[in-house]
Amino acid sequence: MCKESADVMARLRGAAKKCHVDRLEEIDSTNSELKRRAAAGAPDGTVVIARRQTGGRGRLGRTFFSPEGGLYMSLLLRQEAQSPELSLLTIAAATAVAEAAEELTASPLAVKWVNDLYRDGRKVCGILTEAMTDGVTGECCAVVGIGVNLVPPQGGFPAELKDTAGALLPSAPNGVAEQLAAKILDRLLPYAAALSARAYLPGYRARSMLDGETVTFCQSGVWRQGVAQGIDDSGGLIVRLPDGSSCVLSCGEVTLHRAGG
Ligand code: BTN
Repeated sequence: MCKESADVMARLRGAAKKCHVDRLEEIDSTNSELKRRAAAGAPDGTVVIARRQTGGRGRLGRTFFSPEGGLYMSLLLRQEAQSPELSLLTIAAATAVAEAAEELTASPLAVKWVNDLYRDGRKVCGILTEAMTDGVTGECCAVVGIGVNLVPPQGGFPAELKDTAGALLPSAPNGVAEQLAAKILDRLLPYAAALSARAYLPGYRARSMLDGETVTFCQSGVWRQGVAQGIDDSGGLIVRLPDGSSCVLSCGEVTLHRAGG
């Protein structure tokens, strides 16, 4: 086991102690790697962390810029039968990352439904949760992938990200990525073990940056606009429409109508 893997594991507390962490120098995508390992029988609590990704993946088929200076981590959660509630798992993960990063940096983070974390109006973290079902046994598992821009990349962000992306810290000594990884897992494992208790929802709601804001979204192929009202108990975004009715978005993405949105 490498020093970094051992460092993360030595820091884990409580429910997170069951995690087995494998820290790699480089991989295509920690989510893809963990899905391969899951198919080969990796146990619940397996964690893959990479120093950089060559094919980092984001939501909706996007790529995720993953140079050195970030934390790229995926966690495998196995369930016996029921398929995991992916929105709630993403919300639990976002809350865990926000709490961990705030403890580490002492600066507040905001969440943009459903999977993005912002610091000072710039995106510093994205989360990609994926589920798989074994066709033979019916067993389900989820891979929760977390990408954090810990420090600005050498040479800066590429042109398409430079106006929207940010980092948690201006610079970081060795070991900060491992500290952050352990803090995230310490929070996420208890949340995930009791997903239906929703202990993470108050923390998520308190950091939501969409409440009262005008948002645009696509529903059944039609573009609509409304005002975000909050997060419901299933992790959906409640939106008030211009005719006074409300709808709940359970997946997809919204665009925020204000500077920095
Ligand atoms: C998004 O912003 O759309 C989600 C980005 C998720 C990125 C993380 S980095 C670790 C894990 N491996 C991946 O390929 N993606 C996730």
